[in-house]
Amino acid sequence: MTATQPGAAIDIVAVGKLYAQRRGTANVALRNVNLRVQSGEFVSLVGASGCGKTSLIRMVGGLAPYNAGSISIDGNPVRGVPKRLGFVFQDAALMPWKTVRDNVTMGLNEIAKTLSKQESRAKVAEQLELVGLTKYADYYPRQLSGGMKQRAGLARALVSGPSLLLMDEPFGALDAFTRLRLQEELALIVSKANTTTLFVTHDVDEAVFLSDRIAVMSASPGTVKEIVSVDLPRPRLRRQGLLDNRRAAELRDHVLRLVMEDQDGKLGPSTAAAPEQPGMLDAGATAS
Ligand SMILES: Nc1ncnc2c1ncn2[C@@H]1O[C@H](COP(=O)(O)OP(=O)(O)OP(=O)(O)O)[C@@H](O)[C@H]1O
Ligand SMILES: [Mg+2]
Repeated sequence: MTATQPGAAIDIVAVGKLYAQRRGTANVALRNVNLRVQSGEFVSLVGASGCGKTSLIRMVGGLAPYNAGSISIDGNPVRGVPKRLGFVFQDAALMPWKTVRDNVTMGLNEIAKTLSKQESRAKVAEQLELVGLTKYADYYPRQLSGGMKQRAGLARALVSGPSLLLMDEPFGALDAFTRLRLQEELALIVSKANTTTLFVTHDVDEAVFLSDRIAVMSASPGTVKEIVSVDLPRPRLRRQGLLDNRRAAELRDHVLRLVMEDQDGKLGPSTAAAPEQPGMLDAGATAS
């Protein structure tokens, strides 16, 4: 793996986000969002459509400003795109006129300057191998399947050895089988590299499989309403291994219930509550 340094730590404190609307009004997209992600931790954001997941992850990645509170990475307030960041978007966002190899090479960003041509090529080749795209290095994005595009997007995000990986529904558009395979590959890659990962998904099973903790968001305005610790042992190599796991089912039901009750407000309290496990991981603060 290319990452040799520890993963970044993220501190999101009392963050708010407003989008200006016509006639001087504003849409309060996020209010009082609190979340602390530790170095090497995998945290998923789940919540109803429009609750502000993309807004939050873009602010962490320095792609959008916030209006209140603070976001810092390793203690430094985010101003612009942080160094050693990998970002994976829902649609892979590859450059159509570049080959897979050249798209992945773009992900080297800043560190390209410190590498010889040979070293760059070697890093890109290593990453392509890791995501199973070696044979497709000279293909253009239009010649790839959806799953292959996502792999290329993942390789581009990982090639610089990021200390922080931000992923916004990266597998949302994929068929179920490709999705399972990529989840397993991602679990392996980030655990080997100890990369801190903030991951947006609508798929609660995916969140349970991958995450150390799941931050459940509520909407209008968006905030983190509960953080659920996924107290399942690691390594979790196979999704199938969770199918008949009772604890995994309880956690999924609990998270689903939290998301659903926010959507229709009709469901009663969960019977499978999964509170933070004190001492397991340093608890991130939930929004009040
Ligand atoms: N560029 C923008 N300009 C104005 N309003 C925006 C903009 N981006 C997002 N919003 C608003 O902010 C709120 C949160 O949107 P956001 O895209 O962050 O939600 P989300 O949780 O990612 O939703 P989804 O699950 O559908 O992707 C919504 O009310 C949306 O209308
Ligand atoms: Mg979104």
